[in-house]
Amino acid sequence: MIRVLLLPLLILPSTLSAPSPLFEKAKALVLISFDGFRFDTLNSTIAPNITSWAAEGVLFKNGVQPQASTVTAPNHYSIVTGLYEDAHGIVGNIFFDAERRKFYDIYNLSSIPGTIEESLNPYWYTSETIWQSNRKAGGHSAVVHWPIGDVASGNDNETSFHAWREHGNLSKWQDEVEVVIDSLLEGKNLVAWYISEPDHTLHTQGFYHDGHFRRVMADLDVTFGYFLNRLKTLELYNTTDIIFTADHGHAEIRSLDVVLCMDEYIKGQIGVDYQVSDYTVLAYTEQQAIEVFESLTKAVAEKQIPAKVMWTKDVPAEWHFSHPSRLGQVMVLPEIGTDARFKCPWKDPATFHSSTHGHAPEKKEMRAVLAMRGPSFAEKREIDSIPQNIDIFPLMGKILGVPIPANNGTLERVELALRSPPSTEDTVEDPQLMNSNIARIFNILLILMPIAVLSIILYYIIMRVRRGPNKQLAADLTNEATEPML
Ligand SMILES: *[C@@H]1O[C@H](CO)[C@@H](O)[C@H](O)[C@H]1NC(C)=O
Ligand SMILES: *[C@@H]1O[C@H](CO)[C@@H](O)[C@H](O)[C@H]1NC(C)=O
Ligand SMILES: *[C@@H]1O[C@H](CO)[C@@H](O)[C@H](O)[C@H]1NC(C)=O
Ligand SMILES: *[C@@H]1O[C@H](CO)[C@@H](O)[C@H](O)[C@H]1NC(C)=O
Ligand SMILES: *[C@@H]1O[C@H](CO)[C@@H](O)[C@H](O)[C@H]1NC(C)=O
Ligand SMILES: *[C@@H]1O[C@H](CO)[C@@H](O)[C@H](O)[C@H]1NC(C)=O
Ligand SMILES: *[C@@H]1O[C@H](CO)[C@@H](O)[C@H](O)[C@H]1NC(C)=O
Repeated sequence: MIRVLLLPLLILPSTLSAPSPLFEKAKALVLISFDGFRFDTLNSTIAPNITSWAAEGVLFKNGVQPQASTVTAPNHYSIVTGLYEDAHGIVGNIFFDAERRKFYDIYNLSSIPGTIEESLNPYWYTSETIWQSNRKAGGHSAVVHWPIGDVASGNDNETSFHAWREHGNLSKWQDEVEVVIDSLLEGKNLVAWYISEPDHTLHTQGFYHDGHFRRVMADLDVTFGYFLNRLKTLELYNTTDIIFTADHGHAEIRSLDVVLCMDEYIKGQIGVDYQVSDYTVLAYTEQQAIEVFESLTKAVAEKQIPAKVMWTKDVPAEWHFSHPSRLGQVMVLPEIGTDARFKCPWKDPATFHSSTHGHAPEKKEMRAVLAMRGPSFAEKREIDSIPQNIDIFPLMGKILGVPIPANNGTLERVELALRSPPSTEDTVEDPQLMNSNIARIFNILLILMPIAVLSIILYYIIMRVRRGPNKQLAADLTNEATEPML
């Protein structure tokens, strides 16, 4: 009788530490970025495979906010370091470091010979990436085309790097899926995978011209579906965490009339008389800076382009975009629907179809997609709040279980995505294995119930002893209760 009553006590320790039978612990994390994938282009018409996958897991319905400047290389570095751009120092795809008097231009936008080579110098990359943290903790990673992922990691001989070479196409991307899959089969516990679309198509065709955007999205969707099918066939689907995101969104440029071609208004030659970053002008003297500010302000007014010409020091403090030696004094901030370029490649307004990014990070159109699924994540959960892409870094550290360096991300802004949000009283060995608050309440009941039962028994015994009819029974009961519980 008493053994039965004590049963809850016997099962208590194992209930607390055993994994829930519904899911296993994640064996690996795959971080995916499709360049320029705006949050609201994830829908069942445009990308059915990705949309139904996202519905199984966690979807940040309103997307994720990028960092200023909202361009490719800096944001990919922010995602994997958790740092603002001015903290990791890659403040643009292109910028001049006035202190070092060197030009950074990882995509050869300036066409200056030797500039890519210079941009590969380890000097530029001083921040710890998630795969470096993973390696320090004994993990193994593969980096498949992640922008600057290969160069930003020094001479890391443990991580498999696959440098980005081309925009590719469906058959090329399916080959890349096999690289990701092979990495998982080799036992990598972290894979970062990147495709440079739909960004490339959006820049060259815009959202609406001739079905180009829809076609590239369909191909990306089939690639994603193919990846999921490979995981399922190999029985990796339920043990792999996937985070799907992008570096920034995109905004269609209304017409060529609202594009400011800055070199037409600034005296002198880029790279000789003044330097540029993506949207700032670095003048060599204060007087020259004032001239640039005035001529651009005049140009914007005359051409009636909805763009703001401002001093870089006046950007909102929450942008954390204030590098002392790498940003120019004057900044042009185009409104959504417009663009500002140092050199304009377009001539004919009739054939002009283009979308762009680089606008203010808090603009809706700049937000990227963010969805996740896997054993670490909640199921069928839609989240309204808008995290920042730097928050993905502490989230990855958490689910990989590796120590990460100090960073600018905030885990609290994304932890709703976890299957069980971290609890303050960490009495449980692995909080991820406790799947919900209901489980926690149940466990508290499991502790309280035996205590209540024991109290009743003790009360019963004491009353019996006091009444004194059967002292032997009381002794037996006490002995039985102190027997080893096996
Ligand atoms: C998906 O987005 C497209 C383009 O914005 C829109 O035309 C379509 O109605 C949307 N479909 C759904 C199911 O939301
Ligand atoms: C950069 O562009 C210039 C001009 O198009 C070209 O000559 C040079 O080879 C390019 N550099 C690299 C590394 O591709
Ligand atoms: C990587 O480099 C370290 C230190 O130089 C060395 O001990 C280790 O064996 C190397 N690992 C591989 C896989 O080459
Ligand atoms: C896809 O790209 C590869 C090169 O990466 C090329 O050989 C192949 O012909 C392309 N396929 C299509 C359908 O364009
Ligand atoms: C999803 O991806 C698969 C590739 O595995 C493709 O065959 C299928 O057509 C896609 N589904 C939809 C609805 O596009
Ligand atoms: C994943 O787990 C779910 C629930 O346990 C199960 O229904 C499903 O068949 C599993 N899928 C695969 C591909 O193993
Ligand atoms: C961002 O993080 C870095 C590294 O921890 C820190 O030095 C810097 O002060 C942080 N920036 C802000 C604005 O908090």
